[in-house]
Amino acid sequence: MKRRIAILISGRGSNMLALARNCGGGLLNAEVFFVACDNPEAPGLADAEKLGLKTHLLPYAALGKYKAEEHLDRLISDSRAEWLILAGFMRVLSPGFVLRRRGRIVNIHPSLLPAFPGKDSIRRAFDHGVMVTGVTVHLVDEQVDHGKILAQEPVRIFPGEPIEDLEERIHQAEQILYTRTLIHLLDPSR
Ligand code: GAR
Repeated sequence: MKRRIAILISGRGSNMLALARNCGGGLLNAEVFFVACDNPEAPGLADAEKLGLKTHLLPYAALGKYKAEEHLDRLISDSRAEWLILAGFMRVLSPGFVLRRRGRIVNIHPSLLPAFPGKDSIRRAFDHGVMVTGVTVHLVDEQVDHGKILAQEPVRIFPGEPIEDLEERIHQAEQILYTRTLIHLLDPSR
């Protein structure tokens, strides 16, 4: 049976689109019940609509975090989504919200955690001069970009490489790793 997932985004939505396409194509044994976003300007929101996905704007700006999370709680229970997939969602979920769904919220982050959590991770790794960075998929706990690591993919930084090229390679690695990890997490028999 298909797993019921909901995806949270804040911006471009490239990971969300890759996951949605892989659900549609059958690679992921899951169905996207909705895409929710905290940012009305997010390009990913419009792209999700174009794909025919159900979308919701979370009222963080108008009502604050706790009301926005209540709204999200209702969306999840109404849709009976089993898994919450964070794909570039740049808000920290409250401990109570995470506790209610511990082990059922997954995040992707563009570094080899625990290195470079938080924002601008690719640039901070690049500026730091590390030679290898990468991508992490992990379960979400109460801390930022923290929780049980499910999978990691290293990405080398080549000498003299422009940051734009590195970003592109990291985003490609993310899309492959997220789907590959979720295939097994959502359906351990596969
Ligand atoms: C991705 O690189 C994702 O790993 C990162 O935001 C980007 C969203 O891109 N997430 C974090 O930094 C979480 N701390 P996308 O909107 O194109 O998927």
